[in-house]
Amino acid sequence: MVEGMTDLSDFIRGLPKAELHLHIEGSLEPEQMFEFARRNRLALPFKSVEEVRAAYAFSNLQDFLDIYYQGAGVLMTEADFHDLAMAYFRRVAADGCRHVELFFDPQTHTDRGLPFRVAIEGLLSGMAEAERTLGVSSSLILCFLRHLDEDAALATLKAAEPWLDRLLGVGLDSSEVGHPPSKFAKVFAAARQRGLKLVAHAGEEGPPAYVWEALDLLKVDRIDHGNRALEDPALVQRLAAEGMTLTVCPLSNLKLCVVDDLANHPLKRMLDLGLRATLNSDDPAYFGGYLGANWTATAQALALSRDDLVTLAKNSFTGSFLPADRIEAHLAEIDAYAR
Ligand code: ADE
Ligand code: ZN
Repeated sequence: MVEGMTDLSDFIRGLPKAELHLHIEGSLEPEQMFEFARRNRLALPFKSVEEVRAAYAFSNLQDFLDIYYQGAGVLMTEADFHDLAMAYFRRVAADGCRHVELFFDPQTHTDRGLPFRVAIEGLLSGMAEAERTLGVSSSLILCFLRHLDEDAALATLKAAEPWLDRLLGVGLDSSEVGHPPSKFAKVFAAARQRGLKLVAHAGEEGPPAYVWEALDLLKVDRIDHGNRALEDPALVQRLAAEGMTLTVCPLSNLKLCVVDDLANHPLKRMLDLGLRATLNSDDPAYFGGYLGANWTATAQALALSRDDLVTLAKNSFTGSFLPADRIEAHLAEIDAYAR
């Protein structure tokens, strides 16, 4: 175990790491929500930042999604998306994060009338500035909303055509139960044909069968969350044998009641089972902490050793979609730091 809270936070801060599960709309802080609403002359159903924070008490994923989609309604211009991204990158740069593969939900924005280009251009410009000024590299994953139908996802992929060379991949998020991966087999096949990486949320609230479907029907390169895979020993064996990365989000799991206590979180068990688990923040403005806070709270609650933390840091790069030489360079930096 790493001794002392300050020692632990300092060790974690200095450890080079990547974030592989971050919804940029989930980094919208209440203060920014008011700022964007003011800029865009929009009314909010809240009177104060405190009132917004008080509304962040969720008993499941859907409770959260309802307020998350409402919050995203204040994002209107490319500048809003640029500023949202830069505010996030400033925070994770301070947490020792070197690389981010971030999600965005274009349908949340096009369905309320924004042209497709607004979110993506604003984000790409924020990402370029973050790389230039903070030294944090990043790439973008377009998520399809699974509560909508596959035709809507196909239309979104079509709208994204002009930006395909600037997209890393596609993902699948939103309400999981009742919306299995099989519903999106065609659009994932189309994305694969276009050379995009494939990821999907599976096993957050949904059963192990959804994780099997993500692997077998969507042919994903990474599983987001994957907690409930642990209920199925054959699935665990498959994930371990394939070296499949799981992007695990402990504070999210706590806030959305996927786990009842951080001390009961399965992350340590995943590592002990030989799974390539990574540690991420999901929607940090809603779940009580950015990347560093997730690492520190989880390390404490599960009494993670320095070796565990180094393994998690290495997993965050080996599980990334960076080119092999950049992964090697990050791993060498971790080794040098750990020594
Ligand atoms: N969209 C944003 N955060 C999500 C999560 N944790 N699960 C599913 N969809 C999401
Ligand atoms: Zn997520």
